[in-house]
Amino acid sequence: MDLEAIDPRRVPAHIACVMDGNGRWAEKRGLPRTAGHAAGEEALYEVVNAAIDLGIKWLTVYAFSTENWKRPPDEVRWLLNFNEQSLLRRQAELHERGVRIRFAGRRDRKVPRRLVRRMDDASALTADNRTLTFTIAFNYGGRAEIVDAVRKLVADGVPANRIDERAIARHLYDPDMPDPDLVIRTSGEHRISNFLLWELAYSELFFTEVLWPDFRGEHLVEAVREYQQRERRFGAI
Ligand code: IPE
Ligand code: IPE
Ligand code: MG
Repeated sequence: MDLEAIDPRRVPAHIACVMDGNGRWAEKRGLPRTAGHAAGEEALYEVVNAAIDLGIKWLTVYAFSTENWKRPPDEVRWLLNFNEQSLLRRQAELHERGVRIRFAGRRDRKVPRRLVRRMDDASALTADNRTLTFTIAFNYGGRAEIVDAVRKLVADGVPANRIDERAIARHLYDPDMPDPDLVIRTSGEHRISNFLLWELAYSELFFTEVLWPDFRGEHLVEAVREYQQRERRFGAI
């Protein structure tokens, strides 16, 4: 990984990734789609390590959307099981590297109880770590998150004139999480697909043709280098 071209004082605090293109990666090789998901695991944990080396404090990845339930039941079942196994395989190593593991998403009845328990265990194990906060968006939808925030506000009896942007932000899944500075989407698709709708209001967007299973630390560095060339204005001049 070539960190030469990176200004360490201006790395994004928070990078979010839409890990896309696993199915196409597998199809190109004549393999089942699930082989692409399996190959994506290596990319993910390389990116976690690269993020730590770059000094990034927050990394959020889109692992399963509220819309992904529309996929064939076999693929959905495979993904649920794979995410559970992958977490079990990796959590000790993440913990050792000082990674705090968190989850964002709806915990409805579609998510198996055992997986919820594993998520809670991984979060509890790593709760005191501070090197990197690694958030896995699972059964996550940006619109669902805003709906859930509004429901909490109403349930708390907050009057209409007290509802402002800060109040909504405080009721999102992780109120401590800073907005992403940079969002990366792989596989050549130029869309958001219901990821972090509220939070990415002013994020810089980086799109690459690379399919997720081929994504490596060097691609993360390339995205950060491009980010450092952008001028962020937040509506000002
Ligand atoms: C992203 O890869 C992983 C998930 C959505 C779970 P895809 O499975 O969407 O791969 P493509 O887009 O079909 O290539
Ligand atoms: C977005 O990818 C969701 C994840 C990466 C988990 P999709 O492949 O589901 O998005 P669309 O359907 O192409 O918009
Ligand atoms: Mg896709």
